[in-house]
Amino acid sequence: MRYVVTGAAGFIGSHLAQRLLARGDEVVGVDCFTDYYDVALKEENARGIDVRRIDLAEDELDFAGVDGVFHLAGQPGTRSFGAVFPTYLRRNVLATQRVFEAAVAAGTKVVWASSSSVYGDAERYPTPEDVEPRPNNPYGITKLACEQLAATYARLFGLDAVALRYFTVYGPRQRPDMAFARIVEALARGDSFEVYGDGTQSRSFTFVADVVDATIRALEAPGGVYNVGGGEEASVRDAIALLEDVSGRRLDVTYGPSATGDMQRTNADTSRFERATGWRATTALRSGAEAHWSWAAGRVAAR
Ligand code: UGA
Repeated sequence: MRYVVTGAAGFIGSHLAQRLLARGDEVVGVDCFTDYYDVALKEENARGIDVRRIDLAEDELDFAGVDGVFHLAGQPGTRSFGAVFPTYLRRNVLATQRVFEAAVAAGTKVVWASSSSVYGDAERYPTPEDVEPRPNNPYGITKLACEQLAATYARLFGLDAVALRYFTVYGPRQRPDMAFARIVEALARGDSFEVYGDGTQSRSFTFVADVVDATIRALEAPGGVYNVGGGEEASVRDAIALLEDVSGRRLDVTYGPSATGDMQRTNADTSRFERATGWRATTALRSGAEAHWSWAAGRVAAR
């Protein structure tokens, strides 16, 4: 089969592209290598993948002959406000609208990355997909707008699109601005890690290999919106303690102000996706943490 993976030089996209290649699929990678974080890391992620430098917000898109599009490109980051807003509009809303247009033209299914950030501070936990979304930040707002676009394109133009609300994905190659990446890097280098707030905020942390499984299985799911989250909720303090234990080191922790836009809690109810595909997260937080730590420690040792 022939698939397009957007964001193929990113954290989740590169893992997905490699898994598809390993099982014998053909992958056309797309990425515009924005400098939101070190482009050298993206180039490293993209090794062995055919990644074309295409800006989804303006370049021509043609999905003819493609069996499915995995649209993972976007502007991430849940703690950014103000002057960056147009960047979220362009890289999330506009880019996704153009992907949907091209998918309708080619009659191709789209599986794409939405986010647990659409919930903001949810009415209930574990959170099912039908609670009222009330995003806390431009990232969540623009992902929610993309979900509205998908629903409209489905009704009016027959788009077949599956939105996956990923819950705080971690593992090797995680974006360097995220908590797990910063903690393992600080442990490996003996640096300090700043907790935003008191560290009681918690997440359904989800291991990247489970997310890749879910994303591929989503090709079989009926169009709609689904939670993809890990089974174990942990606070930032829990995550620190776990990674200290796994690494056998002590982390130098400092506490700063809480971050505007941060959610206090996420906890995924994944029963809808489980009914549709049989998927559920299988990686225990401890094994995922061990994999992330050994990857990071190996890289720091090799520098
Ligand atoms: C993550 C990703 O960054 C988003 O791209 C993604 O869409 C989102 O998950 C999601 O689930 O939809 P976030 O949950 O904020 O967002 O993930 P982390 O950056 O790993 O942060 C987890 C927690 O650690 C947050 O409460 C954050 O405040 C805290 N943290 C993070 C710190 O205390 N210090 C840091 O240096 C980084």
